[in-house]
Amino acid sequence: MEKTMSRVQIFIDGKPVIADTGQTILEVCRDQGVEIPTLCHDDQLEPFTSCFLCVVKVEGARTLVPSCGTKVTQGMRVTTNNDQIYSARKMALELILSNHYADCLGPCKLACPAGVDVQGYLALAAMGKYREAVALIKQANPLPTVCGRVCTRPCEMNCRRNLVDETTAIDHVKRFVADVDLESPDRYFPEVRPETGHKVAIIGAGPAGLSCAYYLRQEGHTVDIFDAKPKAGGMLRWGIPQYRLPEEILDKEIEGITGLGVDIHLNKALGRDFTLDDLFDREYEAVFLGLGAQSGTSMRVENEDADGVLSGIDFLEDVKMKRIDSLKGKVGVIGGGNTAMDAARTALRLGADEVSIIYRRTRKEMPANEMEIEEGEEEGIIFKFLTAPVKVILDENNRATGIECVQMELGPPDDSGRRRPIPIPDSNFVIELDWVIAAIGQKPDLAFAARDSKLVNVAQTRWGTLEIKPEVMETNIPGVFAGGDVVLGPATAIEAIADGKKAAKAIHKFITGERMELVNKPFISRKENFKKLSPDDFSYVPRVERAKMPVRDPEERKHDWGEIELGFSPDQVHHEALRCLECGC
Ligand SMILES: Cc1cc2nc3c(=O)[nH]c(=O)nc-3n(C[C@H](O)[C@H](O)[C@H](O)COP(=O)(O)OP(=O)(O)OC[C@H]3O[C@@H](n4cnc5c(N)ncnc54)[C@H](O)[C@@H]3O)c2cc1C
Ligand code: SF4
Ligand code: SF4
Ligand code: FES
Repeated sequence: MEKTMSRVQIFIDGKPVIADTGQTILEVCRDQGVEIPTLCHDDQLEPFTSCFLCVVKVEGARTLVPSCGTKVTQGMRVTTNNDQIYSARKMALELILSNHYADCLGPCKLACPAGVDVQGYLALAAMGKYREAVALIKQANPLPTVCGRVCTRPCEMNCRRNLVDETTAIDHVKRFVADVDLESPDRYFPEVRPETGHKVAIIGAGPAGLSCAYYLRQEGHTVDIFDAKPKAGGMLRWGIPQYRLPEEILDKEIEGITGLGVDIHLNKALGRDFTLDDLFDREYEAVFLGLGAQSGTSMRVENEDADGVLSGIDFLEDVKMKRIDSLKGKVGVIGGGNTAMDAARTALRLGADEVSIIYRRTRKEMPANEMEIEEGEEEGIIFKFLTAPVKVILDENNRATGIECVQMELGPPDDSGRRRPIPIPDSNFVIELDWVIAAIGQKPDLAFAARDSKLVNVAQTRWGTLEIKPEVMETNIPGVFAGGDVVLGPATAIEAIADGKKAAKAIHKFITGERMELVNKPFISRKENFKKLSPDDFSYVPRVERAKMPVRDPEERKHDWGEIELGFSPDQVHHEALRCLECGC
């Protein structure tokens, strides 16, 4: 027999309302459009009444009552909001947060400089919703096909799955979904708001500038990028070799930004073709400087300007520009970072007979990506560790014939936390070489700023980078913002992307007249705040082997420019996405 419910009249904030006797105060309020916060309540479950966020005042009751678990009765008078209720809810929330053993956000998302919702896109990828996964990634990172290949993956270093077996292959899944979208006839493009008439100029079409443009354009602003080089991409194009990031992929990725209506003006250099004042005269209301770190650092050794000595980034750019198409003989690359590894492996592909990396610390301290080092070893690169150059040896024509080095040993850690290399007295020796490539590091090249009466006043740090207020990414000149390598020094693509996005938010506020506030750090509960997690905490999780990225054979790949990593299959994507432990709430 159907159960009958009688009707009652109650009063919500003084307003008479007819309700069913079986209903809770919360249900009636929701029907009436009266908002009450809840946390533990779930429509599908019996009321739990544990959080006390939904408390309301019922006339005659001694204390506030949880609206989610209190049924209505005839004539009940309910108050849903006053100072007493507000402070009771606030106190309840503070109590919950004070000892909340959970993760609001997964460690992966917290570790990604751009805050990509890793857990979310892995879940979408597991369901085969690749386009939705790309849409989610692009809320935080507009270059997923690029990052899917070259990101340094701080997310994976922090992935909880490490405590079970091996990190989830977060980035390989990103590459897969992004590649599918890149080739799709129905490619994902975010919505662009109606035109606002505001104009922003971005200098530099590297990841920082591209990211800034992507997010500003979505707000409906006119965005023009100016770059000194003949193609866009910055170090993604001129630094990272083709076998790691094919230029065709980069071109298509950039179309994902120009496709929104962003114009890129190439071969246009700030300081050579125009000044900051010119831009403001042309009614750009804000300028973002994403100039990168374009200048190779000197080795500070005798004869380093001789013929046969090349700068790592200039060498890589010369190869990309097709100004160098072969390199014979013995090549020595000085340095242990990504530029050194890229220069060494590029030299190998240009036909060098022997390529050595000469590094003053050991393999353990090399800043290059581990994968790059391993792949270089497989291809036959020779590593000479604890070896530092002191002088380039010349022939009678002033051409390099080798490099004099000193043997090093490791002392106590320096400021970077790595053990300091110390020369061993009387240990000098000579390595015979036909080419010396110096890949020690990069720094911003701001010499041209002297020719720009406004730019010359932009404050710089003692490291020659631009100084900004980090909360709002603005320099000391109002309306001039900066980010990426020109601020951070040589860093990573994802850090540049994160900077560009943050600057876009600040610039949007600046040009629309909103106050550029300091960003409040949101409260984020983390399990690690309570205790360090150990593998024992995950003993219940079955071990599942991580899917391996298929790669081309080293003997074959070292002779050409074809991409080394071939990409996951849909099955591998599914397998990996399901390995995610879904750490966040
Ligand atoms: C060889 C090499 C390998 C790397 N490998 C990796 C990797 O594997 N993973 C990773 O995450 N990061 C890697 N990086 C680092 C990464 O590429 C950079 O951190 C990133 O590109 C910085 O972005 P950006 O936009 O700040 O600057 P850039 O990418 O340098 O772009 C700056 C742009 O500004 C333009 N510009 C400069 N001056 C002017 C001017 N006066 N007027 C107009 N335009 C101007 C330049 O032409 C350039 O296009 C590598 C870097 C190098 C050099
Ligand atoms: S962009 Fe890089 S750090 Fe961010 S989620 Fe992807 S791989 Fe991880
Ligand atoms: S297991 Fe999943 S949610 Fe947890 S850190 Fe790794 S990728 Fe992120
Ligand atoms: S929602 Fe938690 S007690 Fe009502």
